[in-house]
Amino acid sequence: MKAIVQDRYGSADVLQLREVERPVPAAGEVLVRVRASSVNAADWHVMRGDPYFARLFLGWKGPKTRIRGRDFAGVVEEVGPGVSGMVQVGDEVFGEVEGAFAEYVRVPVHLVAHKPSNLTFEQAATLPLAGNTAWTGLREVQAGQKVLINGASGGVGLMAVQIAKARKAVVTGVCSTRNVEQVRSVGADHVFDYRTTDFTRSGQIYDVVFDLVGNRSMAELRALLTPDGTLVLSGGGSFTGGVLFGPYRLIIQGKLLASFSRQRLVVLEAKPSKENLAALRELAESGKLVPVIERTYPLTDAPDAIRHVESRHAQAKVVVTA
Ligand SMILES: NC(=O)c1ccc[n+]([C@@H]2O[C@H](COP(=O)([O-])OP(=O)(O)OC[C@H]3O[C@@H](n4cnc5c(N)ncnc54)[C@H](OP(=O)(O)O)[C@@H]3O)[C@@H](O)[C@H]2O)c1
Repeated sequence: MKAIVQDRYGSADVLQLREVERPVPAAGEVLVRVRASSVNAADWHVMRGDPYFARLFLGWKGPKTRIRGRDFAGVVEEVGPGVSGMVQVGDEVFGEVEGAFAEYVRVPVHLVAHKPSNLTFEQAATLPLAGNTAWTGLREVQAGQKVLINGASGGVGLMAVQIAKARKAVVTGVCSTRNVEQVRSVGADHVFDYRTTDFTRSGQIYDVVFDLVGNRSMAELRALLTPDGTLVLSGGGSFTGGVLFGPYRLIIQGKLLASFSRQRLVVLEAKPSKENLAALRELAESGKLVPVIERTYPLTDAPDAIRHVESRHAQAKVVVTA
């Protein structure tokens, strides 16, 4: 089968389209014929081994998992031993697992869920990682709460706006001028254009701040919260943290301060699960979560798709079709 493979860390130039052996599903796994995948910040972080600190668990000399891509939507081609009833050959499924920029991917059955019936494979492939991040970060939001999302126009951000609105929150997004209308169109009540306005100086305070950029200090973010408000830290790019700690700078601060603060400082770890995929399916099927796709690339051009997302200025999700 064809797959996008890397042997060492580096820019998207290290990625190669190669012919590799088609995987065989082990006990408790299924083999999915991938129809579409989508790009996440995690793909370029792993591709580059960025920040260096992360190589402790990603692999020291190169990534342990050589095939890039995480999100998949496709059709079950084969089921391994012990998989019965839950998923059958021919089922249309989606989920998150390493190795999705390929024609086939093997997936533990507990990480596979049926694809939302109203979505195409391309649309469904945008949901698993980004949707799970937005859902995990905001699922506890209460009706009427004020929520601010920094980075509202990216892959996670546009889903976060919709999920916060589905929770009946009053939502403020932060993005640049060219994305203001897009963020409004998915439901944001207010939008700050960071090119003209410093949202940390508006005088507004929020019950929940969801940071998807990592470009503001811990003090600035906490000053935006009510005394018992919640700050959800997702990481962000290596804007100010440098390649050693990168997005971990705020995360480490958040973990250190969490037990001393009345405000809730949450370091987000969005783990894939069948339950979260089911929640995303329900949101999609009820029309509360509508995927927004900026561009679609064929598998052969997956390196270009990653280059685009790595620019940190993708508008919505970038899809790769296999
Ligand atoms: N902890 C976790 O489990 C987890 C999971 C997934 C993602 N994440 C993190 O969440 C972050 C967002 O992911 P993503 O997939 O949404 O990334 P993305 O699609 O690459 O986000 C790009 C967006 O960021 C916006 N942006 C860039 N600079 C900005 C700034 N200074 N202020 C506000 N917005 C800015 C861009 O808008 P403009 O072009 O308008 O600037 C663009 O729309 C990533 O850094 C990722 O590492 C964490």
